[in-house]
Amino acid sequence: MLSQADNETLTRVGPGTPMGDYMRLFWLPFYPSDGLLPDGQPKRIKLLGEDLVAFRDSDGKPGVVVNACPHRGAPMMYGRNEECGLRCVYHGWKFDVTGKVMDMPAVDDASLMYKSVRLKAYPCRERNGVLWTYLGDAAEPPPLPDIEFNLVPAENVFISFRVQECNWLQALEGEIDSAHAPILHGRIDGKGSINNWIAAQDLQPKFDCKRRDFGVSIASRRVIDENTDYWRVNQFLAPFWTLVPPQAKFPELSGHAWVPIDDENTLCLMFSYTPVGPLYPKMREVLANGHRGRETGHASVNVYDPQPPTTPYGDFRTKYRPDNGFGFDYESQQTSWFSGLPGLWVQDAACQAGVMPIYDRTQENLCATDAGIILTRRMLLDGIKALREQGVRPAGADAPETFMVRAVSMHMPVGSDWQQAAAGPMTARLGADFGYAL
Ligand code: FES
Ligand SMILES: [Fe+2]
Repeated sequence: MLSQADNETLTRVGPGTPMGDYMRLFWLPFYPSDGLLPDGQPKRIKLLGEDLVAFRDSDGKPGVVVNACPHRGAPMMYGRNEECGLRCVYHGWKFDVTGKVMDMPAVDDASLMYKSVRLKAYPCRERNGVLWTYLGDAAEPPPLPDIEFNLVPAENVFISFRVQECNWLQALEGEIDSAHAPILHGRIDGKGSINNWIAAQDLQPKFDCKRRDFGVSIASRRVIDENTDYWRVNQFLAPFWTLVPPQAKFPELSGHAWVPIDDENTLCLMFSYTPVGPLYPKMREVLANGHRGRETGHASVNVYDPQPPTTPYGDFRTKYRPDNGFGFDYESQQTSWFSGLPGLWVQDAACQAGVMPIYDRTQENLCATDAGIILTRRMLLDGIKALREQGVRPAGADAPETFMVRAVSMHMPVGSDWQQAAAGPMTARLGADFGYAL
C-alpha cells in the first residue's frame, strides 16, 4: 500500500506538481507521424494536463501549440492550417510551428504586437514514425532518448496508439507485474497458445528487482525442472516506459510508453519489433487486424471509435472502455477466456483501469509478486525528491544511451546469477540478435 500523500505525488502530473516537474524533464512521444498531414486537420491533444493542438505545416514541419489563441482565447483546434502556419478563425491571427506571429489581419502593420505576441509552442522531433515533444522549460532540450524500437529499421517495427481511461501509473503497473500474465490472459477452452506459455508452468514466480540508471529491472524466476529456471526480466525505464521480454513462439520485443494525457487518461503507445530483420508479414497483419477476431497486445483497426475533433486524442479512443465494461461477457468466461474479456490488451486495460481512474492505494494488500511495483514507486518517489530538494536530474533525462536496454527471457541452470548471465542480452545493440535461444 501507499500513503495517500505518496499516491497523490505519483499520480498528479499537471504543471507545478512534483511528478509533473519530473515528467517534464523527458521527451514525450505524442502521435504517429502518419496521423498528421501537411496542411491537414490540426488534432486536439492533451499531455500532462495541458490542452494542446498538434499540426503539420505545408513544409512538413510538426508543431505543438497551446489550444488557446493569445488574442482572446479562441480554440486553436479550429485553426486553418494553411501556407506554413495555423490561423485562428476568430480574427485571423496566424502563427508558425514555433508560435511566432505570421499575420494579424486586423492589426496595424506597424504595431509592436507582431513582435511581442507569441502562441506558446513546444519543440517537436520526429523519428521512425513517432512524433515527440518536450514540455520542459530547458532553453535547449536534451537529445531524444535512444529506445531501441525507435531506432531499428522501419520494417522491423509495428506501433499502435490508443487511449486508456485511467491514471498513467495504474496502467504502467500492469506491465511490470509479470505474475498476472498466465492467469489473466489464460483460456479455459484449450485454444490459442497462451496456456502453453512457459510462464504458465509456474504460477508463483519469485521476484528479484534491481535499481538501474534507467529505472528498474524486474526479474522473475520460475522453476522449470530440478536443473533449470526460467527467468523473465521486464524493464521499467523512467519516467513511463515498460519493456516486455519475448515469448518462445513470438520472437518480438515489445513494450509501451504510458504517456499521461492528464491525471485520469493515458496515451498508450505500444511497440513490437524484431532486433534483426523485418517483422514477419503475418505477424504485422495479426497485430494490425487482431487474430481471428481476438485482440492482441495492440488495439486492432476494428476497435477504434473515432470521436469528434473536440475530444483530445479522438482518433485513438476505442470501443472497449470502463463505461461499457470493456466488452466483458459472462458466457465467454464460462466457455473460452478465463477472464471473459475479449483479447490481451482489453484484459490488461480492464484490470488496470480498475474501479476508479486513480485507485486509492491505501486500500491495497501487496504480495511478493508485487515487488517490481513497489520498487518502481520507490524509485520514482526518490527521483522526485532528489529533483525537488537537490536539483538532481535523473540519468536518462540528458544521456540518451541510458535507455539502450532490452527485456529478456532466458533459461538458466538453477542457482545462476541472473544479473551476470543476462548482462549481455539486456544491453540493446543495434543490429544484434537476442544473444540467447528463446
Ligand atoms: S481570438 Fe484568435 S485571433 Fe482573436
Ligand atoms: Fe497482461
